[in-house]
Parts: sequence; structure tokens; C-alpha cells
Amino acid sequence: MFDLTGRVALVTGAGQNVGAEIALTLAAQGAAVGVNDLFAERAEAVAATIVSAGGRAVGVEADVADLEDVREMVQTVESELGPIDILVNNAGVPPNQEWDLIPFHETAPASWHTWIDINLYGVFNCCHATVQGMIERGWGRIVTIVSEGGRIGEPLMAVYCAAKAGAIGFMKALAKEVAPHGVTANCVALGTLGPPDGDPELVARLARRYPVGRIGRPSDVAPAVVYLASPEAEWVTGQTLPVSGGYTTS
Ligand SMILES: NC(=O)c1ccc[n+]([C@@H]2O[C@H](COP(=O)([O-])OP(=O)(O)OC[C@H]3O[C@@H](n4cnc5c(N)ncnc54)[C@H](O)[C@@H]3O)[C@@H](O)[C@H]2O)c1
Repeated sequence: MFDLTGRVALVTGAGQNVGAEIALTLAAQGAAVGVNDLFAERAEAVAATIVSAGGRAVGVEADVADLEDVREMVQTVESELGPIDILVNNAGVPPNQEWDLIPFHETAPASWHTWIDINLYGVFNCCHATVQGMIERGWGRIVTIVSEGGRIGEPLMAVYCAAKAGAIGFMKALAKEVAPHGVTANCVALGTLGPPDGDPELVARLARRYPVGRIGRPSDVAPAVVYLASPEAEWVTGQTLPVSGGYTTS
């Protein structure tokens, strides 16, 4: 099951953490992978890991918030690997750090663009540049990585939550548009992930919010993406799958 041999995937923001794990896992299932990041060296390092394991991959530097950049990225991936069948919108900027969280009324309006431009427009741009090809070929999978904050709202990160909620609403609507053409569109909503070597006190404090008793890891996320990207998930669309240790239950 979940064999992606012959499929071509594009994963944005895949130079580290969650995106890198998704790119490596899609490749392990047989997909050729366009590995995007804002930083070329990160993207190329992940692509090189896939290639050295016997897979096909290309690293592509692009800013998902810039539509022209995105169009060029899609062209590069398609000329190197073939038409894109699977788009994973993973690139995102996090809310301010824990010690930096501020109420909405104290935020600087100029800062709002950061979250909206990358976490929402980035998704629009990448879908706009790839969906037509998927429709023409009659098969496609779009998976957007969002946050539980976009589903339920979290204080002190309102604009981040708005951008992620916008991506969820967009994917639901797009799912209905493209469903007749064999294309699905879903979200995966994450709880807090952390590096295993993070500050133990902070990690323990964050873990207390999660019924499963720990914060997440990139390896919790990638298999969910593989499922939604697979042929077996063709009857699942317009959904948001929480991968969050029981943080939310509906
Ligand atoms: N880590 C968490 O706790 C958490 C929780 C909920 C949701 N998420 C979501 O998961 C996704 C991945 O998170 P992560 O923790 O791996 O992030 P990260 O910051 O560790 O990595 C993101 C990668 O995306 C790249 N990137 C940033 N802006 C970009 C742009 N404009 N164009 C292309 N690439 C860009 C960065 O260079 C980086 O390599 C994000 O969408 C994030 O909002 C993460």
C-alpha cells in the first residue's frame, strides 16, 4: 500500500524539520521529489540525501510568497523530474517564540504580512502553479500543513491562526472544485513539535498539554502525508487531519 513509484512530488519548505522528513518519506515510498526551500543549501542537502539513497530529487530555491518564483520552481521541477502529481504545502513561518507572544492589539500591523504572505498566499501560489496540470492529467494530491491553532484558535498568535485557518478554508473549497478531476486536497493540522534536544523544562511543560504525553516529531507527520498523497486516499478530500497527540478530539 501507499506505493508512490512513478509519482512526482513537490514539498515546500523542505530544507529542514517537518518538510525534510516529508520529502525523505515520500521518496522512500518511491516518489521523485522536488525539495524546495528559501535557502538553496538546505534544499540541496535534502535532495542529495534522497539521491544518495537511490531516489530521484532536485533541490529548488524559491520563496513561496512570490508567485513568479513559484512558477519558475514548478518549471524547474517539471523539467528535471516530470509533471507534479503531489504538492505538499509545508513552508510556513511559526508564531512568535513562546517568550515573545503578544496580544493582537499590541502587534504591529506591518508584521501581519509575514504570516499571511507565506502561510496563506504561499499556499495559493503553489496551488495556482500546479493544479491545472493535475486537472489535465486527471490525478493529483494536495496536502497542506496547518496548525491546530488554525482549527481552534490559540491566544497570542491570532494572525498566525488566521493564516492557517485561511489555508484550511481554501483547501476545503479547492477540494470541491477539483474533486471531479481526480484531485484531492486535504490539510494535516499539527500540534507543537520540538527538537528532541530542546530545553527539557520547556519540552516537559509543553508535553503536559498533550494527552499522549509528549510533543510531536516530524516522523509523526510524514506518514499522514504519505497516506493522503497515496492512491488509496482517493475518497478522502476536503478534510483536516489532526496529528497532535490528542490535543483536540473533534
Ligand atoms: N513545528 C511546530 O511545532 C509546528 C506546529 C504547527 C504547525 N507547524 C507547521 O508545520 C510546517 C513546518 O514547520 P517546521 O517546524 O518544520 O518549520 P521550520 O521553520 O523548522 O522549517 C520551515 C522551512 O521552511 C523554509 N521557509 C520559510 N519561509 C519560506 C518561504 N517563504 N519559501 C520557501 N521556504 C520557506 C525555511 O527556510 C525552513 O527550512 C509549517 O507550515 C508550520 O507552520 C509546525
